[in-house]
Amino acid sequence: MCGIVAYVGKRQAYPIIIKGLERLEYRGYDSAGIALLNGELSVYKKKGKVSELKAHLAEMNLDSTIGIGHTRWATHGEPNDLNAHPHYSSNQKLAMIHNGIIENYDVLKQELVSRGYAFESDTDTEVFIKFIEDIFTNNNCTLEEAVRLALNKVVGAYGIVIINKDEPDQLIAARKGSPLVVGVGDGEFFFASDATPIIEYTNDVVYLNDYEIASVRNGELSIRTIDDIPMTPYIQRLELELESIEKGGYEHFMLKEIFEQPRSIADCMRGRLASERGHLVLGGLRDYIGKANNIDRIIILGCGTSWHAGLVAEYILEEFCRIPVEVEYASEFRYRNPIIREGDLVIAISQSGETADTLAAIELAKSKGAIIFGICNVVGSSIARATHAGAYTHAGPEIGVASTKAFTAQITVLTLMAILIARQKGTITEALFRHLLVEMEAIPGKVEQALQANAQIQYIAETLKDSRNALYLGRGYNFPVALEGALKLKEISYIHAEGYPAAEMKHGPIALIDEEMPVIVIATKDSSYEKIVSNIQEVKARKGRVIAIVTEGDDHVAKMADYTIEVPSAHEALMPIISVIPLQLLSYHIAVLRGCNVDQPRNLAKSVTVE
Ligand code: G6P
Repeated sequence: MCGIVAYVGKRQAYPIIIKGLERLEYRGYDSAGIALLNGELSVYKKKGKVSELKAHLAEMNLDSTIGIGHTRWATHGEPNDLNAHPHYSSNQKLAMIHNGIIENYDVLKQELVSRGYAFESDTDTEVFIKFIEDIFTNNNCTLEEAVRLALNKVVGAYGIVIINKDEPDQLIAARKGSPLVVGVGDGEFFFASDATPIIEYTNDVVYLNDYEIASVRNGELSIRTIDDIPMTPYIQRLELELESIEKGGYEHFMLKEIFEQPRSIADCMRGRLASERGHLVLGGLRDYIGKANNIDRIIILGCGTSWHAGLVAEYILEEFCRIPVEVEYASEFRYRNPIIREGDLVIAISQSGETADTLAAIELAKSKGAIIFGICNVVGSSIARATHAGAYTHAGPEIGVASTKAFTAQITVLTLMAILIARQKGTITEALFRHLLVEMEAIPGKVEQALQANAQIQYIAETLKDSRNALYLGRGYNFPVALEGALKLKEISYIHAEGYPAAEMKHGPIALIDEEMPVIVIATKDSSYEKIVSNIQEVKARKGRVIAIVTEGDDHVAKMADYTIEVPSAHEALMPIISVIPLQLLSYHIAVLRGCNVDQPRNLAKSVTVE
């Protein structure tokens, strides 16, 4: 949720930290702060974006080779200067940044208040650092030991880094439930919530595991568990290009990511599929595919856009594999008492691989004996590591808060998975198998073609930008696409939008239709085409404005709709990857025209590592 970055070494810490915070800003952006140590331990923090902190610090002397920084997404306490991180200990000798939530902070706070501690913010983090301070000052132990003792008492999730005025070359970090990566350079170390602030300086990283405490001191990194067991740091080499986390000439990350889709979808299939040889493989599924005949049911877990990818997969898996599929919001699943039987396969979908609800749902399913297959974008993420097997989407870093290329890559992996299982089970013919491989290989080119409607969509966006509501309709495979289109519009333009199965319109939403109401209908030529054309007529009969996504060359719908946006045709099961493209562009342009912050929409965060 929040972004953490810290540095200790020979270079100036401030430029590294502030740049790191800019890279991590997608994780939260309601306030930002840093602490630097140069004789004095100085904390600077500001409500608002990292740029506001940067402007605030522009004229200051920030000389220091050690520091910590934080960009916040508020959980406890409103976004203001006081609640921003870092938080000092009472004696101002320690400062801490924290990502996560301490659930028993109230009890700890009362304890500390009774011992004379005062608090200036509303945050759980201030309680957390003062709790550590209390143990440190009363136990005649090292700070590392005090942190360890404190972590044994706190309940909740944390990724933390602590700086200590009395130890000017030491940083202490720990994680449970909130990601933390350690960058290992030449006599220098970096800590961050993800690798993006680090890769400019080193590709060698250590992913901290839950319940681990990392301490850098005198240029040495050591790791112990909160049970005091020493661990050997496992250094991995990161393969991430710097250019993949920069805007590359686009005005926004979201637009860049939308336009990257022909490449990201191709990357997702690279090495997995070769239609001319009838070759299809998903490495992570290899050990399990032989048991495909034993799968009685598939349960798909996810949140937000990943849940929508799961809904698309439900249609595809049931059609090709003839296996019943249930798609669950991870946040609901985790608090039910779900029935999991032997023979159930659980698929967890997550771009970030860090979503707290999805992670908890996985743990619950695991505890009931399920095999979990993960579909994640972020390599080495918590969900990727918590699942038994999985496949990465290889879409590259997604920085825009509204998910675009991760969605199409998720559907791509899920489709490959469905085709593989179906072939193994014999529920599709060899001819259909071969045909689907050819169709999959053609998808990147078709997405490229769909992107060519960009200028036209920008023009249509002009006519929709002042709408207060919008209705998205789709049927069959395109129903989840309608949900995703509505979510995109809500997220970044703050226009209320609803996605509906087109036939359900008559059971409620039809009452909303008048000349003010834009209705975006996905009406590509598939088995529901005739029915959806009737739905368009129902909207037009009530003077609704129809923007239809149609198969190229479709004059029939063009005669009824106010605007049509053409997309190339494909096997109907594969259409969601193509038909979502104009909806992504439409919401992007509407949001830009409304002056919204497209990459960092209000109140949202890219990865939600709290409940
Ligand atoms: C947040 C993001 C969404 C994302 C959802 C699930 O709400 O803003 O774009 O779909 O989390 O995230 P995940 O990383 O698990 O796919």
